[in-house]
Amino acid sequence: MASFTLPRDFFFGAAASGPQTEGAYKAGGRIASVWDLWSDERLTDFHNCVGSYMGNDFYHRYEDDLRLLKSLGLDSYRTSIQWTRLVDQNGQLNPEGAAFYHRVFAAAREIGIEVFVNLYHFDMPAHLFLRGGWESREVVEAYAHYARLAFREFGQEVRCWFTFNEPIVEPDNRYRMGEWYPFVKNFTRGTNTQYNISLAHSLAVREFRLAQAEGLVRDNARIGLINCFAPPYTRENPTDADLEALRMTDGISNRWWLDLVTEGTLPADVLETLADRGVALETRPGDEAILAQGTVDWLGFNYYHPERVQAPARDTTEDGQPVFADPYVWPEAEINESRGWEIYPRGLYDFGMKIKNEYPGLEWFVSENGMGVEDEGKFRDASGQIQDDYRIDFVSRHLAEVAHAIEDGSPCRGYHYWAVIDNWSWAHAFKNRYGFVEVDLEHGLERREKKSAAWLRQVAQTHECKGE
Ligand code: BG6
Repeated sequence: MASFTLPRDFFFGAAASGPQTEGAYKAGGRIASVWDLWSDERLTDFHNCVGSYMGNDFYHRYEDDLRLLKSLGLDSYRTSIQWTRLVDQNGQLNPEGAAFYHRVFAAAREIGIEVFVNLYHFDMPAHLFLRGGWESREVVEAYAHYARLAFREFGQEVRCWFTFNEPIVEPDNRYRMGEWYPFVKNFTRGTNTQYNISLAHSLAVREFRLAQAEGLVRDNARIGLINCFAPPYTRENPTDADLEALRMTDGISNRWWLDLVTEGTLPADVLETLADRGVALETRPGDEAILAQGTVDWLGFNYYHPERVQAPARDTTEDGQPVFADPYVWPEAEINESRGWEIYPRGLYDFGMKIKNEYPGLEWFVSENGMGVEDEGKFRDASGQIQDDYRIDFVSRHLAEVAHAIEDGSPCRGYHYWAVIDNWSWAHAFKNRYGFVEVDLEHGLERREKKSAAWLRQVAQTHECKGE
């Protein structure tokens, strides 16, 4: 394991989301989400046929789970409000849903855990999805309305707010690559959903500022955006075409959001290339003024792996969609075989330097980082505890890069590990386990600490690791 020392005022916590933890999918007036729609239609798409219904039962166990996080030395917890739980089919506040989140926030406050609240984690209400989802401006307005209700309902209880988690993922997974329901493979449709999500984000920021100006949101509250700004790299000694692939990959996945949240604009060079390549954005008069309101107070950076690209072998697909880059497999890459993701801790340092140099003054934190491992049961010792030394190694190496970036002047304020307690993860369901704490599916979802939990407790409390 790597050694590091983090600042005293650095926060240390856990990240999760409502749809991946709560379960109780029909309780308290919750309405169906797009994930329930997919699960109802094709449950076999989900690992072991475990659809979106169960989470890890946080809905019923939130008090115990929050105490468990506290006992691990953690000081903060990011989750998301489920749009489907807070708002009913007619766009009205669902009082039972609101009461649940009030209870969660109160329980956290009581034991000294700060709750970070995200408003959207890929979980659109099914009825809005069926009305066009992110392809519809009506849905963009519905999201802004939901955000308004949330800020006004919980504005005195929550200090750290976020509009979206990984807004690049639905455009990619649902519309460009066709991996998630409704399995569309159309670059232009994907880019238009990305554009509409950018408008939705900006409208939500406007709602936040309005509610704050009216005294309905705390004065010291902050709004941010969380994204997986996977640092892009290309091959050594790149050709011009490799560098062009890098520019567009970085432009669409990272600079798009970074410019939006710092300048309130979208990168002109990217929009120009998209237009040249026939990707028509459905813009409307007045959009620029909306986007201009999308600037935030700080950023969350979800980091699992870097993005390595090279010049594409062909410029378009058979059906005429533009291709801007092909994946590049670095010969020296270290791979997490369960997930197929490269392990490259240095990406955190590089992102830290990018922020310091190109977006000076912008504060950020690591909002997700973690290692998902399949079939962890094979690592149990005689007492039944999972011996996950690989997780200690992974996290310590990443934290060492964070410490390095801070030493070199990057304003990184904290670290949230993804899924301190195992949870459900979209089509992968419970395949890859991320937790420091196991959720035993065979024994009533019982929580059990893995070996790494003791290490985490030590690090979270002391902010340092002495290595081996
Ligand atoms: C992040 C998402 O990108 O990756 C989480 O924000 C997700 O929602 C996590 O659970 C891990 O993904 P997976 O597919 O490996 O379980």
